[in-house]
Amino acid sequence: MIQRNDPCWCGSGKKYKKCHLTIDARLQTPAIKRANPRWIKTPREIDGMRRAGRFNGRLMDYIRAFVVAGVSTERLDQLVYAYTLDHGHKPACLGYHGYPKSICTSVNNVVCHGIPSATEILKEGDIVNIDCTTIVDGFYGDSSETFMIGAVAPAARNLVGVTAQALIKGIAAARPGAAIQAVAQSIEPYVESQGCSVVQQYTGHGIGKSFHEYFSVYHHIDPDFKDFMLMPGLTFTIEPMINQGRFEVATDSVDKWTARTKDGSLSAQFEHTVLVTAEGCEALTLTPSQIAAGKIVCLEGM
Ligand code: MF3
Ligand code: CO
Ligand code: CO
Repeated sequence: MIQRNDPCWCGSGKKYKKCHLTIDARLQTPAIKRANPRWIKTPREIDGMRRAGRFNGRLMDYIRAFVVAGVSTERLDQLVYAYTLDHGHKPACLGYHGYPKSICTSVNNVVCHGIPSATEILKEGDIVNIDCTTIVDGFYGDSSETFMIGAVAPAARNLVGVTAQALIKGIAAARPGAAIQAVAQSIEPYVESQGCSVVQQYTGHGIGKSFHEYFSVYHHIDPDFKDFMLMPGLTFTIEPMINQGRFEVATDSVDKWTARTKDGSLSAQFEHTVLVTAEGCEALTLTPSQIAAGKIVCLEGM
């Protein structure tokens, strides 16, 4: 039996009482399953995830300045590709299950996985999600932001704000000892109170030395979800896709990637890769400008 002052079983080098003891004690009353120990990253892996996340954040700040009216989504893709290679890293999306580009660019009613194109020119009033994932020394960093091009309609601005707030709430809920369902419980009632809906077809995911690892992170409440307890050392994404209208999504029958709202309404998304720590939750993909501002998203007033 491991003693209070022994080194913790997770390999953090901390004493057991300062690390996983509280959580293990809670598990004595097993209302909820513990996370699979294989999902818990070692200190070395956590270091790799921090570095991958930090680079992906820098990349997002780099591309920010180019997301303006008149630019093609293809141009944004080329810029991300070049910046990533210039820094010695690899765009994770390129070639992933045959995906043809380095980033996803999802404009207006596109929910996710929009494919950059030379003929798609951003224009004033559009909203566009840019989703970048980078492999840095074998570790994945995955994040996205929805940008507003110039002046956008109040309803679109509202949707983007609600979606950013959904990510902020999800991150706040991801604490050691909490159930992973707490993420969905913090997001869905809020989003619905704002008259919007949570996409169910796509979810967050475990992430590490591969892009999409066990387990799924739901943003909607599902009574059949196999819940488990969040523990320090878990890394995963929180990436709510929020629709202005109904939640249903249809995938393009020709390109097999582009996912659009079925009802044609707008959709927005924000994503961070996060790490559960002994104290709470660390967003690994924060950008330098977010760190400087002490914020999780780059939106006025948030
Ligand atoms: N970055 C997306 C995510 O958040 C996945 C894109 S997969 C791709 O999980 F193949 F479409 F690029
Ligand atoms: Co992503
Ligand atoms: Co993701």
